[in-house]
Amino acid sequence: MKWIADSIKNAPPSVLEKVLKIASEHKDVISLSIGEPDLDTPGHIIEAGIKALKTKYTHYTSNLGFLDLRKAIAEKLDKENNFKVDPENEIIVTCGAGTAIDLFMRAVLNPGDEIIVQDPGYFNYIYVSAFLNTKVVPVHVKEENNFSLKPEDLEEKITEKTKLLIINSPANPTGSVIPEKDLRRIADIAIENDLLVLTDEIYEKLIYNEKHFSIASIPEMKERCVLINGFSKAYAMTGWRVGYAAGNREIINKMGIISVYTTICAPAVSQRAALAALRGDQRCVEEMRREYDKRRRYMVKRLNEIGVPTVMPKGAFYTFPNVSQYGSSEEVWKLFLEKAKVSTTPGTAFGRYGEGYLRFSYANSMENIEKALNNIEEVIKNV
Ligand SMILES: Cc1ncc(COP(=O)(O)O)c(C=O)c1O
Repeated sequence: MKWIADSIKNAPPSVLEKVLKIASEHKDVISLSIGEPDLDTPGHIIEAGIKALKTKYTHYTSNLGFLDLRKAIAEKLDKENNFKVDPENEIIVTCGAGTAIDLFMRAVLNPGDEIIVQDPGYFNYIYVSAFLNTKVVPVHVKEENNFSLKPEDLEEKITEKTKLLIINSPANPTGSVIPEKDLRRIADIAIENDLLVLTDEIYEKLIYNEKHFSIASIPEMKERCVLINGFSKAYAMTGWRVGYAAGNREIINKMGIISVYTTICAPAVSQRAALAALRGDQRCVEEMRREYDKRRRYMVKRLNEIGVPTVMPKGAFYTFPNVSQYGSSEEVWKLFLEKAKVSTTPGTAFGRYGEGYLRFSYANSMENIEKALNNIEEVIKNV
């Protein structure tokens, strides 16, 4: 321990690490704990990757990524998100959205700064903040609000030290989507309090019966906003490691400088595949979305029928059932793992307000989901 830096030593213990280790010790378990698509990368994207290898895209690229890919991203952001950025200076291609989050936070945060996050929310923001000795201020996103961030709850948490607000919609782990009217009010609050905003839109394409709205599209937000997105979820490309950040040019420039000394660039082959994903037929995205939608509706219906109250999520590929009547998050997680042979994720992996909940991923086959829910039904009958 004596060699480890204080910032790493003092980071909160990861519930996720612990539960993944325990789950891995159990055999014949159906996993509903994974946060990645079970579906495969579409064929034409794989072909583009193979072609890139054969045509020797095997070297470093610009630290900001290939310019043609940045141009395709800029076109996408303009057309789909109404967010205009300059591909030369306002986009960086990264090794997944995860690296974009890390580079961004290192570029803007000082020790002692306060960061507001949704709780329950994606754990990366919390851990990266801890590594930087900053203070995470959670806003409880409540079940009665479909786990959506409410502007009035956010406003209460702002202090003199608040520098950054992180928004994730559609959200991990709850699948909540913040409505446009609330995002507009949140933008007003950010402007009134001179806050920087990171908007993580990685689940943008996995949205059901709603239209995605980006807070970055509000013109007054341009200077104070960085948008993060990637290819992992929409195109089932988690292992390719490619994502991006777009927005405030000074911040993107500094992120580029940090990346020169760390990753240097995102993998060249993966960048060529990502370009094919953006330029190619988008029907594959819609097909995957429909498949997840079917599973989502089935899972929520079954969970509610068997006595586990579950809000209908509007996006991503997770449900966030309330299991508090059966015990704590970790107790019920263990019960389902040991007795039903189903691994999920305790809500507490996503912050203190995740207590009483579990995260179920429906990025698994319908057959496995059905089997998992049958097993859980049997276990619940005997509690
Ligand atoms: C909200 C959120 N942001 C970012 C990421 C990281 O995605 P990537 O694979 O692009 O690094 C994830 C992955 O689970 C996520 O859930």
